[in-house]
Amino acid sequence: MAETSSARGSWNSKLGFILAASGSAIGLGNIVFFSSNAYQYGGGAFYLPYFLALFVLGIPVMITEFGLGTMTNRSFPEALYRVAGRKAEFVGWWSLASALFITMYYVAILGWALGMMFGAFGSLFEGGVTAPFAPFSEPTDGPSATVYFFDLITTWWPLLCVVAIWTMNILILWKGTATIERAVRIFVPLMWLFMIGLIVRGLTLEGGVDGVLYLFTPDVQGIQEPAVWKGAFSQMFFSLSLGLGTMTAYASYLPKDADQVNNSLLVSFMNCGFEYIAGVAIFSLLFVFALNPVGGTLSLAFFAIPQGIAEFPWGVRLFGFLFFFLLVIAGITSSISLIEGPASALIDKFQIPRPQALAMVAVPGIVGSLFFALPQIIDPSLSGNGTLGLSLLDVMDHWAFNYSLLTVGFFECIMVGWVLGADKLRAAVNKYSKLPIGPWFDVIIKYVAPLLLGTVIVWNLIEEFTGETLYGAGADLGAFNWIPYVIPFIWLIGTLAVASYLTFGRTYKVAPAAYSPSDSPQTPA
Ligand code: PHE
Repeated sequence: MAETSSARGSWNSKLGFILAASGSAIGLGNIVFFSSNAYQYGGGAFYLPYFLALFVLGIPVMITEFGLGTMTNRSFPEALYRVAGRKAEFVGWWSLASALFITMYYVAILGWALGMMFGAFGSLFEGGVTAPFAPFSEPTDGPSATVYFFDLITTWWPLLCVVAIWTMNILILWKGTATIERAVRIFVPLMWLFMIGLIVRGLTLEGGVDGVLYLFTPDVQGIQEPAVWKGAFSQMFFSLSLGLGTMTAYASYLPKDADQVNNSLLVSFMNCGFEYIAGVAIFSLLFVFALNPVGGTLSLAFFAIPQGIAEFPWGVRLFGFLFFFLLVIAGITSSISLIEGPASALIDKFQIPRPQALAMVAVPGIVGSLFFALPQIIDPSLSGNGTLGLSLLDVMDHWAFNYSLLTVGFFECIMVGWVLGADKLRAAVNKYSKLPIGPWFDVIIKYVAPLLLGTVIVWNLIEEFTGETLYGAGADLGAFNWIPYVIPFIWLIGTLAVASYLTFGRTYKVAPAAYSPSDSPQTPA
């Protein structure tokens, strides 16, 4: 046992783990999705449900995912198998298959961010010029991030950027914890530094504080909207990297006596702290420049914020570059964890060398990301959907973001709460926790979380299928109008097929033993 465990790798220090886990949590979700969700659902109406979700869902589920990692020293599917049997393993693989889909478009977005980062030193912030080799747009009078972005994604450059981001991911994951730790020690502190730079800039602009007030003034009316709660729950899971196997994989490299209550609190508070700082920085910009991020989540990062930066009295290129650099590094510390989840699970199941496991994830992953970044034009006038990839991405994100994470969370709570028994996980975690968790934890994992998650999922589905059109079907995609109908099936059938094959079609090289509370502590290598 100890041998396999050391071959899997282990963190050099607690700090290494905290940086890696918080690096996973802090990503596009915090900088882009949080603010655009908060904006969409009306600022002060959003953060209260979100805050509540942190305590009743986020922290308890994170304790569960971290706990599973140290209780078994295995990644998500095997950890679930050990505590709750084969059906639970299926849930684990299903979540990792979903993680792969999410990685595909997550990296495509990072590719675009990298393209925009170079643009900050090119013509992004100049008037009258468009992106390199842009085929369609007319030169504009002033700098227009929207025009630049659409120009960029209609060129072949993003494909190169996507390959560059994947290459960085693979390099960072090459030696497992050793190389991950080296990368996060540089990237995570940098991320905080740049964000603090942006917030200082945003707040010192005249009128910046109004945005903050909008974000934090409670809106009692808005809270009564069911959609706000749905948005808050999905956002909380995504932001804390829950429901995709990531946190269990990272925690499985910790020694058995790690204090997982403390770790969960640290990572959750760091994540939400960063999120609020990002929210303040972004809302101050939106208010100062009266920007309205209409049309989808990405418009905030790619149109509204750079447009705000373009109007800074000084340091436009520098802050523009910093913003996109921030997106890229925050995104990479998250995408590595999205890839590490499935890679570590494949290593555990088949006892294969790490490069082979990475290749099994990266090959389909790169093909998928390139697909999302293809410059194929649907609408040459660029008034609506710039490229096929952009539309694909929007539809895929809708299904994966709203359903995968929450569904996994639901089943995870059932498996741990009812099959294993929440009290067993609590006992295992409390053994090494300075701040023991009480029986309230069992109540949350067994009743409250499944009930909340189940309600949101069912209600989401009802809204989905009682609406006038299926999500995305309203957009004019020309010859590709069938796409919004096909994507949900590709996502659902694809993930179910992969999960079934890996769970029931293949056996473990080393059969996993059922979890026993007396499992001997493993000595880290
Ligand atoms: N938490 C990351 C973000 O906020 C995304 C992510 C989700 C990463 C799930 C890993 C697993 O961007």
